[in-house]
Amino acid sequence: MKKRIFSGIQPSGNLHLGNYLGAIKNWVKLQDEYESIFCVVDMHAITVPQDPAELRRRTIEVAKVYLASGIDPKKSTLFIQSQISEHAELCWILNTIAKIPELEKMTQFKDKTQKNGKESSAVGLFDYPVLMAADIILYDTELVPVGKDQKQHVELTRTLAERFNKKFGETFVIPKAYTTETSENIMGLDDPSKKMSKSAKSEYNYIALSDDEETVRRKIKKAVTDSGSEIVYSDEKPALKNLINIYSLLSEISPKEIEKKYVSKGYSNFKNDLADVVINFLTPLQQKIADLTDEKVLQILEAGAKKVRPIAKKKLEEVKKKIGFII
Ligand code: AMP
Ligand code: TRP
Repeated sequence: MKKRIFSGIQPSGNLHLGNYLGAIKNWVKLQDEYESIFCVVDMHAITVPQDPAELRRRTIEVAKVYLASGIDPKKSTLFIQSQISEHAELCWILNTIAKIPELEKMTQFKDKTQKNGKESSAVGLFDYPVLMAADIILYDTELVPVGKDQKQHVELTRTLAERFNKKFGETFVIPKAYTTETSENIMGLDDPSKKMSKSAKSEYNYIALSDDEETVRRKIKKAVTDSGSEIVYSDEKPALKNLINIYSLLSEISPKEIEKKYVSKGYSNFKNDLADVVINFLTPLQQKIADLTDEKVLQILEAGAKKVRPIAKKKLEEVKKKIGFII
């Protein structure tokens, strides 16, 4: 029996290089070894306001990115979170065992409320990690391949699963986060102290997977660099380190080799080549996305939902019985 992995991305903004390098790139590799389920988490997306038509478009777009990146529907199951109502039901049940301070500690919640103020934040935003826990444990997931920024949420998932098991008897598999060097946070091009983010205010923060050649060149030209002119990979030069990471992860050339390649060549040579590396990666990806029709993608997502529905239903019934609901 293959071990099961589960992961998801929100259709809430432009997918960017961070999403690809931190998450999707790993999924593509893992699908051969694991029974893989990949979700488009639209219920997470609505924890901040979304335009309905945009949400619909982006949900399909995220699935297209999965497929174009090499997620193979013959090997992996793809579906839309909101089409399986068990996620919301299990979330509600887990809400009754999750503690308020546990959620208050979540860095992502703190970051997001700091940006917009608690007054205008939805309760759903606070509860976001519990829904994520439900997503994961509903399927007896063993591994959760995510970027490093999500590790804290997976830790909470473990806590909740263990707490439930202790209270009501063995029910859930305790999952583990799966991160590699490639799930290292990719930082913002305009500020290497913050991660590259879909919700960044400035478009100079990220390279979207949909950016055209001209945009990529402009953004990389404008990317902040550290003082000095040498290309060195070090924590003292976080902006440059981030650019080297992107270069390295997209070209499979190690940071050390990149350093060597640019000895006494200066930032502008390096940046020009980095732009080439990014464009050489994005152009075929964008072509594959353009070749996928909405109908085809919706068909794949529907088939995925059909496959996971019985698993989710069975697990939720077990949970309901254990807590004393009449089913
Ligand atoms: P999100 O964009 O928050 O829905 O994240 C989707 C996936 O991409 C998660 O596994 C994140 O950990 C990963 N991810 C998002 N931003 C970054 C980043 N800047 N660097 C690395 N991974 C990221
Ligand atoms: N919270 C994750 C993120 O923002 C997305 C997500 C939702 C997820 N449910 C999940 C990731 C389940 C892994 C497993 O990146």
